[in-house]
Amino acid sequence: MTASGHHAHADQALIELRQARKRYNIGQPNEAEILHGIDLRVAHGEFLALIGPSGSGKSTLLNVLGLLEPLSDGAYALQGQAVQGLEDQALTLLRRRALGFVFQFHHLLPAFTALENVTLPALMTEGRVSAAAREQARALLDAVGLAGAMDK
Ligand SMILES: Nc1ncnc2c1ncn2[C@@H]1O[C@H](COP(=O)(O)OP(=O)(O)OP(=O)(O)O)[C@@H](O)[C@H]1O
Ligand SMILES: [Mg+2]
Repeated sequence: MTASGHHAHADQALIELRQARKRYNIGQPNEAEILHGIDLRVAHGEFLALIGPSGSGKSTLLNVLGLLEPLSDGAYALQGQAVQGLEDQALTLLRRRALGFVFQFHHLLPAFTALENVTLPALMTEGRVSAAAREQARALLDAVGLAGAMDK
């Protein structure tokens, strides 16, 4: 990666962390640093697996990358946008636009069908579920083998 600023878009990382630190309970006796200065660059289209022992900080890092937790120190840029100092609402909009999260413990809404759960992001983005959004949701469920469970 160049630091010159030329070809900024082609060089732009999807995710870029510099010296990222995360501490919990700052200033208290049980203060703990979980992320110890992480440098990470993820390119557009790159697939990444994060592995490590239980308690090593994988979820902490994903919560930071997913804009659910702020860093204690260091810098995070998502799609070239510096994340530090963004207001809560801006973080929410960026999260909605740029991120998808599949949680370890899934958070499907039990009163809705599978298809309705998948169309929820479209509902929140556009205020309605268009026919195109519904078709896309059907295709996504079909792609993961859930074609038969859409209305469950
Ligand atoms: N909100 C919090 N407050 C204080 N400590 C926390 C908090 N969240 C996580 N920790 C601590 O940070 C460390 C890393 O936790 P984390 O959940 O990121 O690990 P993990 O690698 O995802 O583990 P697992 O494989 O079990 O999911 C643990 O010691 C945990 O107790
Ligand atoms: Mg975890």
